[in-house]
Amino acid sequence: MCSIIGYSGSDIAAPIIVKGLKRMEYRGYDSVGVATESDNKIELKKGVGKVQQVNSTIQLDALCGKVGIGHTRWATHGNVTDVNAHPHLSNSGKIAIVHNGIIENFEELKKQLEDDGYIFKSETDSEVIVNLLQRNYEITTNVKDTIIKTISELKGRYSFVVMFEDGTLAAVRYREPLIIGIGKNNHFLSSDVLGFIEYTDDAIYIDNENFVIIDKNQIQILDFNGDTVKYEITKVSKEFADAYKGDYAHYTLKEISEQPDTVLRAGENIKNAIKTVADHIKSSNNIYITGSGTSYNAALIAKQLFLKYAKIKIETIISSELQFSSYVIEPNSTLITISQSGESADVLDAVHIAKQKNCKIISIVNSLTSSLTRESNMIIGMNCGPEIGVAATKSFTSQIIILYKILDELTKDDFNIDFNEISHSISISLDNPEKIKQIAKKLKDTSDIYVLGRGIHYPIAMEASLKLKELTYIHAEGIPGGELKHGPLALMDSNVFAIIINPDDSTYSDTMTSAREIKSRGAKIIGISDKRSDLYDYWIEIPKATNELTYPISETIPIQILSYYVALEKKTDPDYPRNLAKSVTVK
Ligand code: AGP
Repeated sequence: MCSIIGYSGSDIAAPIIVKGLKRMEYRGYDSVGVATESDNKIELKKGVGKVQQVNSTIQLDALCGKVGIGHTRWATHGNVTDVNAHPHLSNSGKIAIVHNGIIENFEELKKQLEDDGYIFKSETDSEVIVNLLQRNYEITTNVKDTIIKTISELKGRYSFVVMFEDGTLAAVRYREPLIIGIGKNNHFLSSDVLGFIEYTDDAIYIDNENFVIIDKNQIQILDFNGDTVKYEITKVSKEFADAYKGDYAHYTLKEISEQPDTVLRAGENIKNAIKTVADHIKSSNNIYITGSGTSYNAALIAKQLFLKYAKIKIETIISSELQFSSYVIEPNSTLITISQSGESADVLDAVHIAKQKNCKIISIVNSLTSSLTRESNMIIGMNCGPEIGVAATKSFTSQIIILYKILDELTKDDFNIDFNEISHSISISLDNPEKIKQIAKKLKDTSDIYVLGRGIHYPIAMEASLKLKELTYIHAEGIPGGELKHGPLALMDSNVFAIIINPDDSTYSDTMTSAREIKSRGAKIIGISDKRSDLYDYWIEIPKATNELTYPISETIPIQILSYYVALEKKTDPDYPRNLAKSVTVK
């Protein structure tokens, strides 16, 4: 999603802003721009493409001045064009803005401004904000009242940084992230700690419905009524320094490779939090679990395991669907949310709906400084370190481990699971990528991949197909094995590859039946299993497990590796798949 950044301090702003934008690239974007103030004049450069590319063409980092704003845009309103890229200038050229989020009433506001004689160059909703700011500044003549008046007119969800021609910066947070970095002689405003982590690890996490004004290095934080609010400076976890690729070719490969360690770190040293959550679950009448994408696939696993092992029923709801089925949520229930970023707008909206029904919120989340943690009653951290690759990898396996730990607590020892065995099984797959690389070469030209699994392996098949889609752009579909004959079998022919998730557990023989049905229609079979079979055209061996709960993780790893290598074969960028963003902060 869009990243915003602002800088005010004793150094030249533009190079600092460009570096910050580069570090936030993982969030996903299509265009980039920077504006700076020098001698009471705003200068601006922007264009379509990656930061590096646009910078080498139009030298964003050569802009003068010690105050500036920058942006990477992920298009929502209007095409991917230079004109639609941010920053946007007000008609007078005296105010510039960068914006993340959506203004729902922009058409109505635009009409009013046009009636007042304002002219719009772009198709964006953001240009409406900057002209509204100009109109209000001309009325109020001070920044504070301008902001208060402007936000009272906006509907939607947004964070933005605005720069005035005298070098004053202001930034607003309304249901989108915004963080202040406090350096020695400088201040940063950013949607992400990575925007300034090279310069300072002192941060202020601005509360929702607050805004900030930075004027000649003086900082003021106010609520939407204009009252000053108290703030705390937090030391940002040094862990963010891990957000480097190191010797790995891509973040995605680094993050896949970290899993022998991250599965051991998930839920580490938080026995008390896990006990509190388990006790709450035991005493709760109705439990719902929600998430988006990969995190929703983890929720599907939770549903099966909680019922099987703890006899606890939980209902899964896709976060983006909850608004249409809020009636399923009984008042005074519990909503468990799973989210890596803690910033997915759909998940936050689901929480909002549940809170209106007086539900308690339990969150399994990786980013402990996210909006979701602030909205939750109980939090369990995934503890897997920053995940930069857009495709979720290590966060998924950490989510599963945390669910296992909650179950362990709920079932009190009946649930013997050896986390070292899980970690070891991951290492085995990581140490032997050669065969998978060969299979990747075969898959690169196919147009369809079907992934089959039964029981607990069906959500893994869903996750596998999501990974393949994102990283390889090949159509992939997860299918519960038994459903094959109810429709998808019609699609099977010699052009198709089918991945059969087939560990030697209670699902094995039924899944073999599905594999035979596919094979006899000419499709090629990739078996992921601890048991060899002649049916497989390609066999990806996973270690035999002493506990069947090792399998969901050990079978996930080869699929992550396979997706990564197919991406390399197809020369797509595994870290930043086209059209996608790491944190989906718009609805
Ligand atoms: C998965 O690989 C994705 N990129 C995506 O589906 C992701 O899991 C989803 O957007 C949810 O994100 P969250 O866990 O940060 O809420």
